[in-house]
Amino acid sequence: MRFISAGFVFSALMAGRAAASTTIAPAAPGWTLVQNGTTGIVAIELMVVSPTLGILFQRAANDPLQINGHSAWGALWDFRTNTASPLDLATNAFCGAGGFLSNGTVAVVSGHPVDIFEPPMPPAPPGAADGRMGVRMFEPCTTPDGAGCEIYDDPEVLHLVENRWYPTTVRVHDGSIMVIGGNEDLAPFYNEPNAVNNIEFVPPKDNNVPRHSPFLVRTLPANMFPRAFALPDGKILMIANNGAMIYDMENDTEQALPDLPNGVRVTNPFDGTAVLLPLSPPHYTPEVFVCGGSHVSDKIPPAQLTKQDPASDQCSRLVLTKEGIKRGWQVEKMLEGRMIPEMILLPNGQVTIVSGAKTGYPAIGSVIGAIADGSNADHPAFTPALYTPDAPRGKRFTNRGMPTSKIPRLYHSTATLTPMGNIMLAGNNPHSFVNNQTEFPTEFRVEYLNPPYMHVKRPFVGALPAKLAYNKKVTVPVTIPKGLNVKNLKLALMDLGFSTHGWHSDSRLVWMDAKLSKDQKSITFTTPPNNKVYPPGPAYVYLTVDDISSEGSYTLLGNGLPPPVGFQGVPL
Ligand SMILES: *[C@@H]1O[C@H](CO)[C@@H](O)[C@H](O)[C@H]1NC(C)=O
Ligand SMILES: *[C@@H]1O[C@H](CO)[C@@H](O)[C@H](O)[C@H]1NC(C)=O
Ligand SMILES: *[C@@H]1O[C@H](CO)[C@@H](O)[C@H](O)[C@H]1NC(C)=O
Ligand SMILES: *[C@@H]1O[C@H](CO)[C@@H](O)[C@H](O)[C@H]1NC(C)=O
Repeated sequence: MRFISAGFVFSALMAGRAAASTTIAPAAPGWTLVQNGTTGIVAIELMVVSPTLGILFQRAANDPLQINGHSAWGALWDFRTNTASPLDLATNAFCGAGGFLSNGTVAVVSGHPVDIFEPPMPPAPPGAADGRMGVRMFEPCTTPDGAGCEIYDDPEVLHLVENRWYPTTVRVHDGSIMVIGGNEDLAPFYNEPNAVNNIEFVPPKDNNVPRHSPFLVRTLPANMFPRAFALPDGKILMIANNGAMIYDMENDTEQALPDLPNGVRVTNPFDGTAVLLPLSPPHYTPEVFVCGGSHVSDKIPPAQLTKQDPASDQCSRLVLTKEGIKRGWQVEKMLEGRMIPEMILLPNGQVTIVSGAKTGYPAIGSVIGAIADGSNADHPAFTPALYTPDAPRGKRFTNRGMPTSKIPRLYHSTATLTPMGNIMLAGNNPHSFVNNQTEFPTEFRVEYLNPPYMHVKRPFVGALPAKLAYNKKVTVPVTIPKGLNVKNLKLALMDLGFSTHGWHSDSRLVWMDAKLSKDQKSITFTTPPNNKVYPPGPAYVYLTVDDISSEGSYTLLGNGLPPPVGFQGVPL
């Protein structure tokens, strides 16, 4: 960030003299953390669905937010008022996944049977249906407060082929959603019994026959919520447990990649997190960054693991080219170990690492030290860290100037970049139902982590056309505050993704070549070359000048048709 880089310059000048004194008084507030509003349901799943709204999902349980005489388990979050309004669902979306289709409709898939809790636990909301095959559609919502926007959820009409809980989704280049793996029912810790070792699509392909995945078999029993990424050549990178692989969706073939170094495991129940680093023209060379998780063996039964086992502080990067794969994973260390963290791309290309725990595991009541129906994780990581991917090794991580929260964000918490450009932090519930009389109580409070640019005059990007074709030059009005160095300008096209369980599916940043007009009142940029570089669907464009980022301006990439859509644009 601006003031942090000023600090870097300063420390470089002072190098060899006073290594310890590297801070200078900032001219404006740096990072801040502000608590505002309550979600009314646990934010287990969180996704930005319009410039003013997020959508949240939770288990069908006893949450305080009510609809039609029962607890809600879906809600819209209004970023302008910081209030939640309930959505009425038919099926239990507990630990599901989801994302946009190419026409801008949101599909939220999978879930859980309806839990019959024994007293003193409260009864499930009446009328809730088994959500394991759930496919819920939320059509593009154009009212700023969500008025008139409803969720369609009719399991008789629309459903998956398999029962799934803890699967992953990723939007692919034809605009459909690939649904990967999961468990058929209630796996108390590992993905056993009843692992679902296959892949299906929404809308369906292959005459409704799921595709068997040898990779999912190989990565049992710690492969729930596999981390999956749409690569710029149209293939899908998958990371699960200690393994990695590139899936060719056209040919249904798997190309094995080297295992993660030092035996680290990064998917549930050993959740680390992973993000695709920003993609740059002209080659859009993909590089993945994987952090946290655990170094313990997946042969150890949960009853022999403890809540105090340290989480991994390892991060690994792999460039997904022939040479990059040959070079292998490059290892770095975070400032602290993290289990179930989240990584959020910022519009300037930095990565924020938030939330999670320094010890223990996800899930509830299964390891030594966990109380009944209580957290398997301990020692919340309260201070976010910032990672600068293109800084020299050893200088990439910092938490200098980062605010420290008092709210644990462990299991069943979420985070997302917002259209305004700050990070929303929500959720935490390492319990079966709402319980605020226990350790790490159910959390409804929302926090916003504000990067320094939220506190200064920012660039502004005008309204974009509702749809943008690939490989097109587009001109849009901008305003740039006086005093910013316009030579230092970047334009990011971002997918804000879907957050759940330490994983942010579809999160993406593609840099666009951009040129400011002479009068600095408009910018002309080129959209990504094709629908493999940016899978077709909603996007936000953020302008960063002199490390000060604008709010995101909404658009939709591609022809806006329902999936499957054909190839659009020009080959790479
Ligand atoms: C405790 O939980 C109940 C719902 O069970 C909720 O109504 C109440 O607001 C919660 N209290 C706090 C402090 O969160
Ligand atoms: C919380 O959000 C509301 C609605 O945007 C705003 O009016 C209020 O000032 C905010 N409060 C704080 C403490 O930021
Ligand atoms: C995949 O199939 C296409 C035809 O659909 C073919 O052109 C291509 O060579 C195949 N790739 C591999 C790696 O087999
Ligand atoms: C988008 O496509 C899905 C799947 O075909 C469909 O259910 C939905 O109604 C479409 N939405 C719009 C706005 O076209």
